Amino acid sequence: MPDVLLSNTPGTSTAIELINQNVFDTWFGQRSEQEQAWVNRSQFAARTGQICWLPLDNGARVVIGWNGQDNLATLGNLPFALPSGDYHLTTEVSELQLLGWAFGAYQFLRYRSSDKQPARLCIPANHNAERLQNFSAAITLVRDLINTPTSDMLPSDLAAAATDLAGRHGASCEITTGDDLLAGNFRTIHAVGRASANAPRLIDIQWGDKDAPKLVLVGKGVCFDSGGLDLKPAAGMRLMKKDMGGAAQVLGLGQLIMAQQLPVNLRILVPAVENAVSANAFRPGDIIKSYHGLTVEIDNTDAEGRLILCDALALAAESKPALIIDFATLTGSARSAVGAEIAAMFSNDDAVADVLAGCGRERDDPVWRMPLHDDYNFMLNSKVADIVNSAASPYAGAITAALFLQRFVSAVPWVHFDIMAFNPRARPGRPEGGEAMGVRAVFKYLEDRFG
Ligand code: BES
Ligand code: MN
Ligand code: ZN
Repeated sequence: MPDVLLSNTPGTSTAIELINQNVFDTWFGQRSEQEQAWVNRSQFAARTGQICWLPLDNGARVVIGWNGQDNLATLGNLPFALPSGDYHLTTEVSELQLLGWAFGAYQFLRYRSSDKQPARLCIPANHNAERLQNFSAAITLVRDLINTPTSDMLPSDLAAAATDLAGRHGASCEITTGDDLLAGNFRTIHAVGRASANAPRLIDIQWGDKDAPKLVLVGKGVCFDSGGLDLKPAAGMRLMKKDMGGAAQVLGLGQLIMAQQLPVNLRILVPAVENAVSANAFRPGDIIKSYHGLTVEIDNTDAEGRLILCDALALAAESKPALIIDFATLTGSARSAVGAEIAAMFSNDDAVADVLAGCGRERDDPVWRMPLHDDYNFMLNSKVADIVNSAASPYAGAITAALFLQRFVSAVPWVHFDIMAFNPRARPGRPEGGEAMGVRAVFKYLEDRFG
């Protein structure tokens, strides 16, 4: 994708002036008669997203309405609402607002060409261009990985993306594939992924100073979720290329951490599988011994995310890191609870969860905490194994999924994000399709704590 944030300011770029709607009357009063007539004719009232060209006094410029909030929406619609070309700002803006422009310029062009070049914005001199580009590239990576259809984003492709990422940042990347998973005792990952023609994998990236605080990111990498033998109906299966959205988040976040050289000892674990149907598929009623040692009875092969995550989380917890954070498109129940535009967050650490919620508000990256309600653990009881992978109850599906995961992280501080990873509708700075959710909030948290 062409860079839409420019580090230099071409002399030909058009000026953009942001007008806060609550100073609109004053601003209007200061205009010439000619401009006032033009503003009136354009019915410009400085509402967010409103655009008015002023080609007359003070040189040509475009004025943009603004509601005074610091978010992605401020500039997020402009890359495609303005004519293609170069622009510069004459008003102070925040990093988040500049990112809104970059995120709003995103197009997924792997399988079609563009009908319009996004307008480009010169980065104001008081902003850190490299940091902005790193954020932009991280979110682009997340979206591209999710938007790529499964035919080009199978476990081997996800592994190639991880290897490439590690290579670009001098990180190590170890990948355990197919039957080697059995030798490593990752039987739940193997069971979920073995029916696919593309073998299951466990991706393990490590980077950074070994003496720095340990941070492990874990991402659900279900490249396609057919539901397995408990097959999903057509409507429920349609979007399931995005079921590796958790993996996409941790690869994008990991890229940002490495590019910004955050002083952490980073590990990224991605179990990558396709939940497919075949003669050797795992079945309802099967019992699998997890890496942790707990035996898991399969109630439903469509509750596969928690199965691949439980082995990765147990491995993560083994090294007693300072923090484990997982991202997963784990349950429809979380979507019922908070919708597609908010990340459901669970944590066994109140202090971490409180701070993270604040980071989400500050970075226009909404997260909402849900409870790890201990009394619901009864729903995970099995008569024949230590735990069952899916509760029979129709209630609290996101909570019981999180409680399942909690069994495998022991006492290590842990945060779990149950996310949509996809925008069902376009908003300024948030085009329809694959999306980063929780990444900006978590990066702010990590910077404040470790940076
Ligand atoms: N990947 C799905 C969850 C999902 C569905 C996320 C739609 C976002 C949108 C997951 O693997 C799944 O199938 N979950 C089931 C669990 C159930 C079988 C216990 C669900 O939530 O219905
Ligand atoms: Mn499923
Ligand atoms: Zn799934």
